Amino acid sequence: MQQKFTSSSKMNDLIKEDSSLLLTMTRFGLSLGFGDKTVKEVCQEKRVDEKTFLAVVNFISDGYKEENIKHEEISIDAVILYLRKAHDFFLDFKLPLIRKKLIEAIDESVQEAPYRKMIMKFYDDYVAEVQKHMDHENETVFPYVLNLLDGKKDPRYTIAIFEQNHENIDSKLSDLKNILIKYFPAQQPNYLLNEVLFDLSACEKDLEKHNRVEDHFFVPVTETIEKKLSEQQKEESVQTEKADNLTDREIEILASVVKGLTNKEIASKLFLSTHTVISHRRNITRKLEIHSTAGLTIYAIVNKLVTLDEIKSVIE
Ligand SMILES: [Fe+2]
Ligand SMILES: [Fe+2]
Repeated sequence: MQQKFTSSSKMNDLIKEDSSLLLTMTRFGLSLGFGDKTVKEVCQEKRVDEKTFLAVVNFISDGYKEENIKHEEISIDAVILYLRKAHDFFLDFKLPLIRKKLIEAIDESVQEAPYRKMIMKFYDDYVAEVQKHMDHENETVFPYVLNLLDGKKDPRYTIAIFEQNHENIDSKLSDLKNILIKYFPAQQPNYLLNEVLFDLSACEKDLEKHNRVEDHFFVPVTETIEKKLSEQQKEESVQTEKADNLTDREIEILASVVKGLTNKEIASKLFLSTHTVISHRRNITRKLEIHSTAGLTIYAIVNKLVTLDEIKSVIE
């Protein structure tokens, strides 16, 4: 499937096509002054993972198509860094700025203290919710995912748990916008209030995009990482099991040992040198961690490598 933007797209053209991508670029650490440079050139220069950057901008500006994401090409570290920068932007810049403008706009519109107090409380409660939401992602979810990259999986957590509890943080902002539009008692034209409404709309859209990236980009890519890690761990445990198992030759030698044959007799029976038989016996002992012939006999019987009849003369 042809992607909307590619490595050879000009950075300028991305912004011309979708101005909201400017925010995405900044969060990836790509600042303005691109000249005529392509995505590839700018990403190389700024050491930004090009495939991840392109996947995110295409996802955002081309209808949030989850099926277009090539999971194996995504650097989840880069996605997390991008999401963290977005959190910083909302909490340290955008929401405080809107608060400042909101106070000015309300002061200009109404003199009655209760209105001001109620609206500011509504806004501050909302910001506290956003802070809690983003703190949880920064402090719990992202470290969980980064640990997966180190091969460590918290057995009590999965990204599906995050997805199930992940709330839309933009909807309450739309409530505030509607309260101001429909019910705010503004007596005269209030340009400051209009400004706040524009800001609230932009912030709401930006938060909605942020949410979509988390739910439909970050979550599925993380699910793939979880799956790969669990397959890897299964494979490793099978290999450990195999390490305990003996080779066909070792089983043959073990059976001969418990039947009472000497190293020399085993060597001539199996057309091996005595030295080779001794080396196989050493490996058997190491793998099974059983040193005595009596112990090996019990192992051989339990694992049906010999029958009781076959070793009767030895154990009697
Ligand atoms: Fe987030
Ligand atoms: Fe979130």
